[in-house]
Amino acid sequence: MTKQTLLKKEEIEIKIRELLEQMTVEEKVGQLNQVGPSPVGGFEITMTEMEQMLKEGRITKEEYEKNFTVSSWNNRGKDVQRGHIGSFLGIRNVARCNHMQRIAVEDSRLHIPLLIGLDVVHGLRTIFPIPLAESCAWDEALFEKSAEIAAKEAAATGINWTFAPMVDIGRDARWGRVAEGAGEDPYLTSCFARAKVRGFQGTELSDPDRIAACAKHFVAYGAATGGRDYGQADMSPQTLLEYYMPPFEAACEEGVASFMPAFNDVNGEPCTSSGFLLSELLCKQWGFNGVVVSDSGAVGELVAHGTVDNRADATKQAVEAGIDIDMSSMCFTEELAELVRSKKVSMDTLDEAVRRVLRIKYELGLFEHPYVDETLGETLYLNEEHTEAARDAARRSAVLLKNDGLLPLKNNMRIAVVGELAANKKEMLGTWAGMGRAEETMCLLDGLKERGVEITYAPCCSVTGVLDLDALKGTVQGADVVIATVGEYADMSGEASSLCNICLHGEQEKMLFELERMGKPFITVLFNGRPLAVPETVRVSNAVLEAWHLGSQAGNAICDILFGDYNPSGRLTTTFPHYSGQCPMFYNHTSTGRPTSEIRHSCKYMDAPLTPLFPFGYGLSYTEYQYSDLKVTEEKDRYAIEVIVENIGSVAGEETVQVYVCEKCAKVVRPVRELKAFGKVFLQPGERKICQLFVNKDSLYYFDMQMNRIVHTGPVKFFVGHDSTCSLSYMMQDQAK
Ligand code: NOJ
Repeated sequence: MTKQTLLKKEEIEIKIRELLEQMTVEEKVGQLNQVGPSPVGGFEITMTEMEQMLKEGRITKEEYEKNFTVSSWNNRGKDVQRGHIGSFLGIRNVARCNHMQRIAVEDSRLHIPLLIGLDVVHGLRTIFPIPLAESCAWDEALFEKSAEIAAKEAAATGINWTFAPMVDIGRDARWGRVAEGAGEDPYLTSCFARAKVRGFQGTELSDPDRIAACAKHFVAYGAATGGRDYGQADMSPQTLLEYYMPPFEAACEEGVASFMPAFNDVNGEPCTSSGFLLSELLCKQWGFNGVVVSDSGAVGELVAHGTVDNRADATKQAVEAGIDIDMSSMCFTEELAELVRSKKVSMDTLDEAVRRVLRIKYELGLFEHPYVDETLGETLYLNEEHTEAARDAARRSAVLLKNDGLLPLKNNMRIAVVGELAANKKEMLGTWAGMGRAEETMCLLDGLKERGVEITYAPCCSVTGVLDLDALKGTVQGADVVIATVGEYADMSGEASSLCNICLHGEQEKMLFELERMGKPFITVLFNGRPLAVPETVRVSNAVLEAWHLGSQAGNAICDILFGDYNPSGRLTTTFPHYSGQCPMFYNHTSTGRPTSEIRHSCKYMDAPLTPLFPFGYGLSYTEYQYSDLKVTEEKDRYAIEVIVENIGSVAGEETVQVYVCEKCAKVVRPVRELKAFGKVFLQPGERKICQLFVNKDSLYYFDMQMNRIVHTGPVKFFVGHDSTCSLSYMMQDQAK
């Protein structure tokens, strides 16, 4: 059944005007108030953490008390009935969503339905790979499909809004939240952003299978100093505009319904109170007409930033900058009505925020259809179609990092499996796993069992623990080959999970060294949410598969690859350094006068190799591809790139053709390479195809020192191939003036 948008745009505006005329100031403020299960976001935290926050003055007594009681959601019913709550986050139960909607729609004076948001980041109950993993598929159709399925399951649960996609550029592997984005490249992240918005929202927000999306965290959150979450971002305006902004602009162009400013400040101004970012750039320049929701508690945190003295000033600054919904800080609830009455904040400002909130509620069709069928979800969660899509996404997301020929495994091999993560379902789900459940998840052992593969298994070493050498010896004794599973728990990446050491923890590496000493051929399967600095792991392993946190179907997908049913096609979207001390490390840095080389006086570390452990774009397959005959022709508004790709191996496979550019002479220093196009080509053994890709001329722009936007004028070099180090190149002379 398709929910019709019963109201046209103009009719919606009339309805909004009529409602606004009837609303009291408190009811208006109520629409801007979003409450959730804890002061830090859409998840519960422990009482001890809450007490500590109170002690440190990070939450007020009132917030503490409200949050204390919030775990019994029913206490919120009265506030909803009074019209003092306009939206929730973190409700994970369809009956409760309907219950709250019913109070809002039937018992409140103006019958305004609720927005109900959740961090549906990579699935609701059917969990897809974490975004960093999924981005390694370089496949927009896949990005869109997984969001579409997530939206469908979420909508059937009563959730009408997701705080996704996260489109932050992640250049620093120490930052735990690299797991939530699409890696380090602005072009790829922009493609990801568009696809996710399409997937979540479809063409009509009122479609009952779709939900509103949210582009977050606006902006430069990933540039936190030293990779410490919530830290400051200090950067040139050029870097901000050329690297960090484009994915947000792409999401906006695609019609994303909401934006969330980042916790951090950029060059001294907190994003939450930045009129430049939220009003001038987002709304005026980009024409954004949707809702801006603060991050959790971020309005109140302006006081800690030290740019305001108290919560009233925080409220004034935030709402005037363009925040429409206050997530969890309760500043708006406590302060805004009085600010408006005393004319410190104008009624127009308040009305504009309310207008935006009501508009999205109308566009979602909530006034006409506030409730969901409570039996629908069970027919969707992990159904055959969704499960198959999750498996396909997972095997496309894994990246083969090394293979000396041990993979794919032969069927008659005696296999031993070691490492805690092989048997750990929960950790496969990764960070922000929606309503994913461990018991519905396939770990590696489940995958092997499903294939009927007999193995010997013992954990031998946990992620952070000590190695049980006797168990290791006993387990691998009779085996021809060992699968060693190592990596990170799901909560070692994601929010508040920054690390200064991005190596393997505990004695996991020692376990691999012991396997090497025993002379056992072994495949290392890595489970992690960020790049890992593991040169020794790579050196001692015969093969290394980067399996990230692949979601519900992790076990099956990994087996598909290990046994050669699927030829690995994933390519890294983030650079892997050799050492933590090399962070931040990314491929698209600007040119230096002394480029990295063997020469002593060049740009490098003396105690690290010149090249990364694995570069951006890298990934092996069970076949090999050869590139030739690169040709670039200039058309009116774009360049047409043609290249022949041939499968010179013996198995069929899918190659990701990558196009990079470098402007050879510009007014300011330009990146050594920038990804500008990519495409997929499937080739049978021996098959060759001409691949054609396009680069729009206006995508080759930069900002000069006076912040003028310059479309390039000098010669451009195109590089085409398998990863960001590819050497096949074509020089275009004297470009458009
Ligand atoms: C804090 C996180 O920064 C944000 O990404 C998330 O959407 C909110 N909490 C809500 O859970």
